Amino acid sequence: MSLDNVKAVVLAAGKGVRMKSERAKVLHEVLGRPVLDYVLRNLREAGVEDIVVIVGHQADQVRKAAAGCRFIEQGEQKGTGHALAQAEAALQGFAGDLFVLAGDAPLVGPKTLLRLLEEHRLNHRDATFLSACLDDPSGYGRVVRDRAGGKFLRFAEEVDATPEEKNIPESNSGEYVFRAPAVFEALRKVKPDNKKGELYLTDALAVLVAGGRTVDACRSLNPNEIYGINSRRDLVAATNFLRWRVLERHMDLGVTIVDPSTTFIEEDVTIGADTVIQPFTVIRRGVTIGSRCEVGPFAQLRAGTVLEDEAEIGNFVEVKKTRVGMHSKAKHLSYLGDAVLGAHVNIGAGTITANYDGVGKHQTIVEDGVHTGSNTVLVAPVRVGKGATTGAGAVVLRGEVPAGATVVGVPARPLARKKPPALRSSSAGGAKEGPSSNGARPRRKVKGGRR
Ligand code: UD1
Ligand code: MG
Repeated sequence: MSLDNVKAVVLAAGKGVRMKSERAKVLHEVLGRPVLDYVLRNLREAGVEDIVVIVGHQADQVRKAAAGCRFIEQGEQKGTGHALAQAEAALQGFAGDLFVLAGDAPLVGPKTLLRLLEEHRLNHRDATFLSACLDDPSGYGRVVRDRAGGKFLRFAEEVDATPEEKNIPESNSGEYVFRAPAVFEALRKVKPDNKKGELYLTDALAVLVAGGRTVDACRSLNPNEIYGINSRRDLVAATNFLRWRVLERHMDLGVTIVDPSTTFIEEDVTIGADTVIQPFTVIRRGVTIGSRCEVGPFAQLRAGTVLEDEAEIGNFVEVKKTRVGMHSKAKHLSYLGDAVLGAHVNIGAGTITANYDGVGKHQTIVEDGVHTGSNTVLVAPVRVGKGATTGAGAVVLRGEVPAGATVVGVPARPLARKKPPALRSSSAGGAKEGPSSNGARPRRKVKGGRR
């Protein structure tokens, strides 16, 4: 449901110096999705449609990661207040409620955003910010309140805070709702009077307080959600936070995850009920798994993979952009890429689809009921017809294996059918010598015995 009279600005122009990266901070990924994508999705799930993104560092890439938004370029990054001020012209005439969110805070979900807006509206405020009391608030702006009444006064940024202010646990999340005209008016009065020489958005709230406007915090119910991404360590903390959220969602839908602490399931994965995910398994974004499947241990399913019901993918198997049909199995040491497997296929240990010829990717089609022998290589493009079998170590070159055929060798050729042995009459001494009844030669004793 879309919210009336609400717009948003997301600040995403910064480089993210503390990441020590060439890549803009908001483009770093958490569980397969850019940090910025979480922020935008949280807003959209809360019902905000008109989103302005402030871009600067790697602006083109950031634009690509934020489809469907409006963009404004902040040529030089002179602070969060300066960043928001760039949006004033684009929001000319808008007098409603404006979310302003840091593009590096992916964990504040839609429910919290809606609480923030609700508190803001119920109390008829000019500004409401989301705060939380953190065990370790270092790096965050501290919420400075009046000692007597606890009224919000201003923020003290980490670099500018006194030792006493650094002991304040209540921290600023960097997520705000403003009455739009009020914040732009206040920003005009903000000065770069701080150690970084930046125009702080946080100072705009102090300007509002000094001007007698109503400003206060909405306390987060889950303090961990206010953690932003400023360093590689934060990336791990956010990954762990979101990882558990994803795993719990699958468990609630009837999926057994044997060891959540070693299982990585990215966002946008669908898994059917009664599927079992064994330990040390990685399932990447965009994978679909049916019901009653088994995956792992030590398996990786990559983007574009679909497992139909009752499929089984075992240890040291990597599957990419491949459809595995119902009740088909690849249990050991395989790579299946750009392939389509029918139903009841058995992929022998060590079978590899050679999908890449150094120039392009090619498809492998394995029809229903095929069995591949251990260490088969299927050199794509190749089709293995219904019910066919490959021998151990077969290298099946581009082309087609006819339905029902058995191919062996390097390169793989149809197995030559031996002539059935001539029948002997029973009077010729029975089966003491000569071929055994199944056509195979009798085993010879190894000369010389054991050495
Ligand atoms: C900011 C807040 C701090 C708060 C914290 C929460 C300020 C001054 N401080 O600090 O009180 O506790 O967030 O995470 O606002 N950006 C721009 N242009 C700029 C500068 C920054 O677009 O010129 C963007 C960044 O890309 C980032 C966001 O604004 O997405 C926040 O900037 P960042 O430098 O991470 O601020 P913090 O130091 O985390
Ligand atoms: Mg930050």
